[in-house]
Amino acid sequence: MSASMTARAAGIILPAIRRSYAATTTTNEAGDRLVHAKPLANTLTLIPGGTRGIGLAVAKLFASKGSRVVILGRDPDRIQHVLNSELPPITPEANVDHAGFKCDVANREEVEDIVKEVVKIAPVDYLITSAGVAIGSLLVSVKPEDVETTMNINLMGTIWVNKAVVKEMLRQRKGSIVNISSVLGSGGSLGQTIYSASKGGVIAFSKALAKEVGSRGISVNILSPGYTETDMTQGLTEEMRADIIARTSLGRMGQPDEIAEAALFLAQARFVTGQVLTVDGGLAL
Ligand SMILES: NC(=O)c1ccc[n+]([C@@H]2O[C@H](COP(=O)([O-])OP(=O)(O)OC[C@H]3O[C@@H](n4cnc5c(N)ncnc54)[C@H](OP(=O)(O)O)[C@@H]3O)[C@@H](O)[C@H]2O)c1
Repeated sequence: MSASMTARAAGIILPAIRRSYAATTTTNEAGDRLVHAKPLANTLTLIPGGTRGIGLAVAKLFASKGSRVVILGRDPDRIQHVLNSELPPITPEANVDHAGFKCDVANREEVEDIVKEVVKIAPVDYLITSAGVAIGSLLVSVKPEDVETTMNINLMGTIWVNKAVVKEMLRQRKGSIVNISSVLGSGGSLGQTIYSASKGGVIAFSKALAKEVGSRGISVNILSPGYTETDMTQGLTEEMRADIIARTSLGRMGQPDEIAEAALFLAQARFVTGQVLTVDGGLAL
């Protein structure tokens, strides 16, 4: 029996048919060969929830590194504004532009249709899922429709987008996914049972998917931010804010660009998959 037949029988995929990002290498002044992370130039990054907050910071950062970004959200005016005024051009010489689509991630058919449109532009190299909502309420008084909305957007929305994009990434035999969860997805919080459940689901889903698609050169990681200054946290009372800051080692809330930096690291990491990266200033310590 040949080596390749033995390997196939054992379910191993040989490097010859495994495709992944070609590492960029350079040599420094001392002559050392430096291997760089997965490249961003000439790539496409899809960002559901890229119109505000953390997702917008991710879109700006990835665009500034040369990736063409495609943002999804429910508000077409907001999408237009971000495309016109917020995103840096890819590179002056690049004859391509960023794009955006109105898309409710809770609507599976809409997600499937939009992802088909996105891949007509170019294959998706990076998927960073940031679409989410937080509706605070004690379990005994939470409205059933708020439970459904939260689960449909935060968990099911993440699943629908991943499902549609992974189908395309499997064809490419490469791709890098960062699903945004929350520190509440592992620790939970009073008044956030449903949100915490939705975010815990994102963690378990992403780890299982990482196992499923790793052999095809696709990585799936989870980013768990702590409290971050965005529209989502505008409703916190001064008392809640003070409590959060008192429990955070770095003594403040996070900024969206600080979360985006971590998303970039996870997206580009070449030998990391199925991991949760907590970026919370020491809240969960
Ligand atoms: N801010 C925090 O403290 C914090 C902490 C931990 C985790 N997170 C997570 O980080 C992610 C981003 O949060 P953020 O703070 O940046 O919130 P944000 O400022 O409220 O932005 C949420 C984004 O999600 C989009 N979105 C919401 N529902 C959507 C839907 N059904 N379909 C498509 N897009 C949708 C919004 O656009 P439209 O409303 O126009 O659709 C917006 O672009 C969320 O998953 C959140 O749970 C945030």
